[in-house]
Parts: sequence; C-alpha cells; structure tokens
Amino acid sequence: MAARSCLLLLSCLAVAAAAGMLRAARGQPDSNGFISIDCGLSGKAGYVDNATKLSYSPDAGFTDAGTNNNISAEYLSPASSRIFDNVRSFPGAAPGSCYTLRSLVPGLKYLVRASFKYGNYDGLRRLPMFDLYAGVNFWTTVNITDAAVAHAEEAIVVLPDDSLQVCLVNTGAGTPFISGLDIRPLKNSLYPQANATQGLVLAARMNFGPADTFIRYPDDPHDRAWKPWIDTMIYAEITTTKTVQSVEDDMFEVPSAVMQTVITPHNASGSIQLRWEAKPNTNYPSPEYIVIMHFSELQLLQENTIRTFNISINNMIVGNITPDYLYADSSRNTKPFRSSNQYNITLHATANSTMSPIINALEIFSIISTTTVPTNTMDVSAITTIKKQYEVKGNWMGDPCVPKTMTWDWLTCGYTISSPPTITGVNLSYNNLTGSIPEALSLLSSLTVLDLSGNQLSGSIPSELLKRAQDKSLQLRYENNPDLCVNGTCPSPEGDPKLAIYISVPGQRTILSIYIMSQQAIPTEVTAMDMKITNNFEQVLGKGGFGYVYYGILEEGTQVAVKLRSQSSNQGVKEFLTEAEFAQTLIRIHHKNLVSMIGYCKDGEYMALVHEYMSEGTLEEHIAGRDHNKRNLTWTERLRITLESAQGLEYLHKGCSPPLIHRDVKATNILLNMKLEAKIANFGLSKIFNRDSDTHVSTSILVGTPGYIDPEYHATMMPTTKSDVYGFGVVLLELVTGKNPILRTPQPISLIHWVQQRLQCGNIEGVVDTRMNGVYDVNSVWKVAEIALKCTAQASAQRPTMTDVVAQLQECLDLEYGRAGSVPELSIDHVSKTRTILEMDHLERVPLSTMSSGPSAR
Ligand SMILES: *[C@@H]1O[C@H](CO)[C@@H](O)[C@H](O)[C@H]1NC(C)=O
Ligand SMILES: *[C@@H]1O[C@H](CO)[C@@H](O)[C@H](O)[C@H]1NC(C)=O
Ligand SMILES: *[C@@H]1O[C@H](CO)[C@@H](O)[C@H](O)[C@H]1NC(C)=O
Ligand SMILES: *[C@@H]1O[C@H](CO)[C@@H](O)[C@H](O)[C@H]1NC(C)=O
Ligand SMILES: *[C@@H]1O[C@H](CO)[C@@H](O)[C@H](O)[C@H]1NC(C)=O
Ligand SMILES: *[C@@H]1O[C@H](CO)[C@@H](O)[C@H](O)[C@H]1NC(C)=O
Ligand SMILES: *[C@@H]1O[C@H](CO)[C@@H](O)[C@H](O)[C@H]1NC(C)=O
Ligand SMILES: *[C@@H]1O[C@H](CO)[C@@H](O)[C@H](O)[C@H]1NC(C)=O
Ligand SMILES: *[C@@H]1O[C@H](CO)[C@@H](O)[C@H](O)[C@H]1NC(C)=O
Ligand SMILES: *[C@@H]1O[C@H](CO)[C@@H](O)[C@H](O)[C@H]1NC(C)=O
Ligand SMILES: *[C@@H]1O[C@H](CO)[C@@H](O)[C@H](O)[C@H]1NC(C)=O
Repeated sequence: MAARSCLLLLSCLAVAAAAGMLRAARGQPDSNGFISIDCGLSGKAGYVDNATKLSYSPDAGFTDAGTNNNISAEYLSPASSRIFDNVRSFPGAAPGSCYTLRSLVPGLKYLVRASFKYGNYDGLRRLPMFDLYAGVNFWTTVNITDAAVAHAEEAIVVLPDDSLQVCLVNTGAGTPFISGLDIRPLKNSLYPQANATQGLVLAARMNFGPADTFIRYPDDPHDRAWKPWIDTMIYAEITTTKTVQSVEDDMFEVPSAVMQTVITPHNASGSIQLRWEAKPNTNYPSPEYIVIMHFSELQLLQENTIRTFNISINNMIVGNITPDYLYADSSRNTKPFRSSNQYNITLHATANSTMSPIINALEIFSIISTTTVPTNTMDVSAITTIKKQYEVKGNWMGDPCVPKTMTWDWLTCGYTISSPPTITGVNLSYNNLTGSIPEALSLLSSLTVLDLSGNQLSGSIPSELLKRAQDKSLQLRYENNPDLCVNGTCPSPEGDPKLAIYISVPGQRTILSIYIMSQQAIPTEVTAMDMKITNNFEQVLGKGGFGYVYYGILEEGTQVAVKLRSQSSNQGVKEFLTEAEFAQTLIRIHHKNLVSMIGYCKDGEYMALVHEYMSEGTLEEHIAGRDHNKRNLTWTERLRITLESAQGLEYLHKGCSPPLIHRDVKATNILLNMKLEAKIANFGLSKIFNRDSDTHVSTSILVGTPGYIDPEYHATMMPTTKSDVYGFGVVLLELVTGKNPILRTPQPISLIHWVQQRLQCGNIEGVVDTRMNGVYDVNSVWKVAEIALKCTAQASAQRPTMTDVVAQLQECLDLEYGRAGSVPELSIDHVSKTRTILEMDHLERVPLSTMSSGPSAR
C-alpha cells in the first residue's frame, strides 16, 4: 500500500487570510454581525475589500495602544489583500496590548481571526514570536517565520460577555504586531466541540480539488477561508455543478462550492493519505486535536458499483464511510485525541469497494481551555473607574490580573485556586496624580497595600480607607500630597479652612450661613453654624422636587446652587433624617455628567443641599426656547448634550452599586453649564421621597413626571433602570423635535406616538425641530429618532441599556464630526456571487507537499 499512497504534508498549515471588514469605523458589527478591522490603517476612512466586498475599518476605535506602520515596499503585493499593507505594532515595555470588540452577544459562538504579515514594517528584518489571547484565555503562539508570508490564526469560541478583548503579549521574542482582525458570529449548533469551557484553534481548513481558488465570503456565509489543494501528479479532481445539500442538523454548513470538488487517487487501488504535525507551544506542550472530514459523492454511481473506504488515524480505524450522492456528511472525532507528534490519516477503499476513496474538505483544530477565571468583577469595575478618573493608559488594558504576565502596572494581584484573582496592592506613588482620591479604591475589598504618596492629590481620604488603615488591614501611604486633607484639616490658600455660603429664603428672610470644611472635590464634613438675617442674596433659581433652589456664593466666591427644605414643609422628621443620611451617599457620587454635590447641612428646621451651579439652566428651557436670549441649539450641540446626559445616567446605572435609578429623567433634570456641558440633576432624590415607611410616603406612590413615565413601571410600581431609559428616550425625542412630551393637537397625544406616526411614513423632516434651520445630517437625526423609539418601547426588555445608548449616540456624534471631516459612509455589497480569487503565492504559508513528488504544483 505504501507505494501507492500519497502523503500530504499538512504541518503548520495556516489559513490564508484574505482580510476584510466593515462599517466598523464606528466599532459596530455590520448587518451580518461581522466586525472587520484593518489594523494599522491610517486615517478615519475604511474601505470595501475587493475580494469579499466586506467593509474594513481602521483600528483606532478598537485599541489605544501601539503605532501604525506600513510594510516595506518590497513586500507590497497588489494580489494580496489590502489588510496586509500596514500593521499596528506594540513596541515598548508594556507586556500586553489589546483590541476590544464590542456589541457582541454573550453566550454566542464566534469565529475570531487575527492576520499577520511582517513585511519588514520596522526595517529591522527581525521575525518576532509572541502570544495571542482571546479574553483572559491563552489562544496561541504566533511564530512569524517568513516576512513575505501572510499568516492567520483562527479560533472558535463561545463568548461569556458582550465584548471580547484580543490581546497580543510580548514574550521577549520580538515586538508583537497585527495586520487584521475579524470576528464572525456562528450559530451555537455549529462546531459543537466548541463550548463555554473549550475553544477550537484552527490548524488547517482544506478544500480539496481546486488549485487556486480560495473560498470565503460570500460563498461561505460564515466567512471561513477554505484553502484549495490538489497534487495533480497523484490525484484527479472530480467536480459537479449540482448543489450539494446539507444534511439535517448540519453542524458545519460547509458551503456547496467547497463540497462540489473532491480529489481521488489516479490509481484505482490507491489510498488518500494526509499527514500533519502537532504544533506544541508553552501552554499546550502536547496539544489535543479534533479532525473533521467532509464527504459527498459527486458521481451518480452505476448499479453494482460502490465507493466505501475506511478511515484510520495513525493506523487506528476510526470508521468507514460510503458518501451519499450530493449530500454533505462529515466524519469527526467527538473526543479530542492526542498521539505522537505526527498524525497520519489514511482513507483506504474496503475490499468490497469498486471505487477509490474521495475527500471533499478537511478541518483540523486543536483544543484550548476557556476556563481561565477573570479577575473579581467588583475589583475590575473599581479599577476601571480609577483608570477613567486618572486617565491611566500604559498597559492598563485587558484584565487587570490575568494573564499574570500582563498584570497592570502598579497593581499587585492575589491568586488562589478556589476564587477569582483579586487586586491586593495599588502603588500609584509619584505619578503626578491630581484631584481627589477615588472612592472606588475602597471597593477593592482585598486591598492590603495602597501607596498614594508623592502626588498632588486633594480632598480627603475616603473614610472607608482610613478605617481599614486604622484597623491595620490596609497599609496606607499618602505622604507628600501637599493639598490633601489629613486628620480633618485641609490646607487652604486663605489659611481659613471654613467657607461660608449665604442664602436668603424669600418670604421668611432667613439666612443660613453654612461653613464648609473643605473646598475640595470631596468635602468630608459640612456643619451648619449660626443663623443670620441678611437679604444680600435673594435669587430663586427654580423649584425642584426637593424644594426651592437658591443661588448662593461660597465665601471664596464659588457660585453654587442651594436646595433648601424646611421641616415645616410636608415632610416628616424621619424623611428629613433619611435625606441627610442619603446625602452622604450622594456626596460620594462623582461623574463629569452628574451635577456634583458640594456639601449639605442640617440646621434646625432647615436642610440644605449645596450643588455646583449650572449657569445655563435646564435643558427644557433651551428646548422650549422660552428664554429668547438663549440661542437655538445646533444639532451637534444637541447630540453632545444627549451623549453627555446618557453618560451621566449610565454611571448611575453601572457605576453605582446597587444601581441608582433616577426615576425622574426629564429635560428639566438635565442642567447645562457655561460651556453647555450637560449634567444630570436630582438623582437619588426621588428614592428618598419614595422610601417605604410608616409615614404618608410609600412605594405605592408613582414617582415621575407625566409624559415621561414608563408604562411598565406604571403598571407594576416597580421602577427599573429601564424606566430611566424610557424617560431618556422621551428627552431624545424632545431634542429632535423641539416639542413637549405631551402635545395638544388639539387632543393630547404623546410625543412618542406623534413621532412614530410620522416616521412610519418616512417623514423625518416633518418631525425635526425647525429651530435647527435645516442644518443637520438626516442620517444622524434618523438614527437618534430610532434610538429614542427603541428606548420608549412598551416592554422594558426591548429597550436598550444606557450603555447601549451611550455607544450608539457616540456613533452618531462620531458621524457628525466625521461629516465635518471626511469619513465616507461605507456600504456593504452582498450582491456579488463571484468566488473570491486570491493569489496563493501571497497567502500560502507552508506549501502542501507529497512524499512522492515534492512540493505540489500550485
Ligand atoms: C480593487 O480592484 C480594482 C479592479 O480590479 C483595482 O483597480 C483596485 O486597485 C483594487 N484595489 C485594491 C485595494 O486592491
Ligand atoms: C502609510 O501609507 C499611507 C498611504 O501611502 C500613508 O497615508 C500613511 O501616512 C502611511 N503611514 C505611515 C505610518 O507611514
Ligand atoms: C518557530 O518557527 C521556526 C521555523 O519553522 C521553528 O524553527 C521554531 O522552532 C518555531 N518556534 C517555536 C517556539 O515554535
Ligand atoms: C465542552 O465539551 C467538553 C468535551 O466534550 C466537555 O467535557 C465539557 O463538559 C463541555 N463543556 C460544557 C460547558 O458543556
Ligand atoms: C496502482 O496500485 C497498485 C496496488 O498498489 C499497484 O500495483 C499499481 O502498480 C499501481 N498502478 C500505478 C499506475 O501506479
Ligand atoms: C506516519 O507516516 C509516516 C510516513 O509513512 C511514518 O514515518 C510515521 O511513522 C507515521 N506516523 C505514525 C504516528 O503512524
Ligand atoms: C481498511 O480496509 C482495507 C481493505 O479492507 C484493509 O486492507 C485495511 O487493513 C483497512 N485499514 C485498516 C487500518 O485496518
Ligand atoms: C463493505 O465492507 C464494509 C466493511 O469492510 C462493510 O461495513 C460494508 O457494509 C460493506 N458494504 C457492502 C455494500 O457490502
Ligand atoms: C511629573 O511631572 C514632572 C514635572 O512636570 C515631570 O518632570 C515628571 O516626569 C512627571 N512624572 C511622571 C511620573 O509623569
Ligand atoms: C493623623 O492622626 C494620626 C492618629 O491620630 C497620627 O498618627 C498621624 O500622625 C496624624 N497625621 C498627620 C499628618 O497629622
Ligand atoms: C431660533 O429659530 C427660530 C426658527 O427658525 C427663529 O425664528 C429664531 O429667531 C431663532 N432664534 C435665535 C435666537 O436665533
């Protein structure tokens, strides 16, 4: 048998990657759910890939690390996919660099493909080797062995989250780089060997028969790359033009175009032999493999003819097969196997067979474990908040503690067998940090060492941290921060730590003077002092749910808004105290899009909440155009306001634990400062009002404002974060239309219905606020209107989260800025039915060869 056998050498096969990708200039999957990124592409403009007609976008929106480089001119090739013309490289000390792919579906299976061509982009002629991670799980080691050859790594994984980080890790063997990154969703029924705990890493995907035609999208709707192969010395190609059907419950959905060709030995009694070599790496020194062979009979066999062959791997029979005419079937191992370094597959006709064996296609995967546990989620969210506040870049990417070699700078992590890794040490000393010490640090429950010394931090140390330092569970260092309040004493330029605000209460002519211990961002203590009578400041800014809001000035001149409430108003003592208690929580909540609380005090019958002063008043005043001194908001300003207020709400939902539901999202609760920056006001107050207690206030009272109330909340009396999303949707509609949430036309009709009616007829111009004088991008207005209608869906489950809303509004704003610049709208052409022709010479990594005839003809 050996003499007649033919061997294919399948060692180190790489799937040739053509590349290609997307509408993702804005980071969103396209209509197929594909994200296609050309890594290292300069500028903002993407392009449509010639071969696949998929839209590829530049990678700037997916990573904030690394630099763009063009490959050296000698390696440029017009026949090769454009993604290989440039790379993003990650030089420098940071061990890891990540791409973040968003808007994915948790629990869904995805094909992820990373493509590489070195092309001497750095002029150093040094071929690197580095590791690749899918999320926190080791994926593979990328070993670049030829500067001219395009190389791809592909994995099939089930994602636990709605985003995936793909990280390149410098292992000391050269600078990591990447040419392209693709993600394609797969039905969960496909490739059942990939599940929540194990992933598949592609070793080979062969289409037997053709010599030069790579099959990809659109022939393969999943955009797998099928590499053509035949050695005509040994094999004949058999083809059909008839469609090869899938069997029921097809687990692989091999495209008919791939199934329509087979190879078969010229010698009728010959066998087909395939061979590959194990590709061990440091994480998988002895990898396990899954082999999937695809078969379909393409010839209508005469009576008394039969094609049956046995399949053996390393001389072990794994089955025999009689392919069905024009039906795709597969032979695969369900349990991964591991043998020597070498694997031989033999297809040998059985004794009663009158025909020689055939094979249509083959896939080989190695198995990776996807059970690596990411860092404790509380710790991740706390450290992410800190990263944002201090705008830390460096290597703060991916998971903070996993993999160990990529632990973020300045952090120390604790690893145990039974629980997720935790952050145990944070050393931010001598880092030029300014501002307050983030409260989030106290959420790191395993923290034992915190070094903040040698910065310009101000404000006071969060009490939780002080407490832990006192009971010796935390080693806390904060010396050499000249502006920090220590032991209750804050340094002050005037030398007097106390600031007074004066406010008058019209009618009663009562003045409170409040001394604030600290002018820093996080005051620790506010005490009410004596009461004086003056009438120097007598300006009512408005009336909110809490009571009247007065204009005030701190002694050192800062303008503030003071909400004053008197006990004689309709509130019991109990609520009064609850408010004070709750204010302590509110005072800790800081976000640039939330009106920040500067202090609070309770003095006798008065309780005052002191907030930052928002000079441009409420959004509602701007929309209604009531104040004729105020100019009309432009579309870009409106978009920016929506995005900023969405970010404020998102923070309440995501940044606070438990999530803080605003309960009264409306245009009058969005305030604007001098720079027209939007901030959410009155968050949390409705919660106080709604406390269940033995007084007249109870949860059975609906909180909110007509026109903005979530119908589901109305029905159940249980507010959720989606109730806020609903209210926000109404605000979006107000910004688009310039109209009130309830229109009188003359019958009262909700703005939502009014807009729905018009949009159903495609009449966007009919709803847009005329005060924008027609200056807006219709697409972006459409998009915002669509977001608004999704937010105001009747069923809360159908509404997006604030995080989704933020992402979509960001996209709109990017579009708007892009309009001013030059981001073209990329369209996706699904029409092309032609096969993808790619030049093998530029894509093939290791030529397939046969034992008998040397390197195969291409
Ligand atoms: C795409 O194909 C057209 C027509 O063959 C060719 O002119 C163009 O240069 C190709 N573009 C790229 C980027 O390969
Ligand atoms: C790469 O080449 C493109 C097109 O020639 C050019 O616009 C871009 O600036 C180059 N990028 C780098 C990093 O040199
Ligand atoms: C990388 O590839 C080269 C060339 O094939 C090979 O000699 C080397 O052993 C490989 N390194 C690793 C770690 O796999
Ligand atoms: C994934 O598949 C492997 C191998 O069949 C199996 O051992 C494991 O339990 C599966 N995991 C899940 C979550 O189904
Ligand atoms: C075909 O295979 C048979 C059995 O291995 C062998 O005897 C014969 O020489 C082969 N024919 C050719 C043309 O190679
Ligand atoms: C695979 O086939 C080759 C060539 O015939 C042989 O040298 C090798 O020992 C075989 N390996 C195994 C594991 O059977
Ligand atoms: C496959 O079938 C042929 C013909 O019956 C037989 O000679 C051969 O031994 C079988 N292969 C193995 C590995 O048993
Ligand atoms: C041919 O032989 C194989 C085993 O060698 C057997 O499984 C199969 O049923 C046979 N087919 C026919 C049509 O007899
Ligand atoms: C801190 O700022 C000083 C002065 O601007 C600068 O010299 C120093 O490099 C900075 N240190 C760090 C760690 O950024
Ligand atoms: C703060 O108070 C503690 C305990 O009373 C004392 O040990 C520490 O030295 C004080 N720190 C400063 C800077 O005064
Ligand atoms: C705002 O727009 C309206 C309608 O176009 C216009 O009548 C009004 O003068 C504009 N206001 C200002 C301040 O420009």
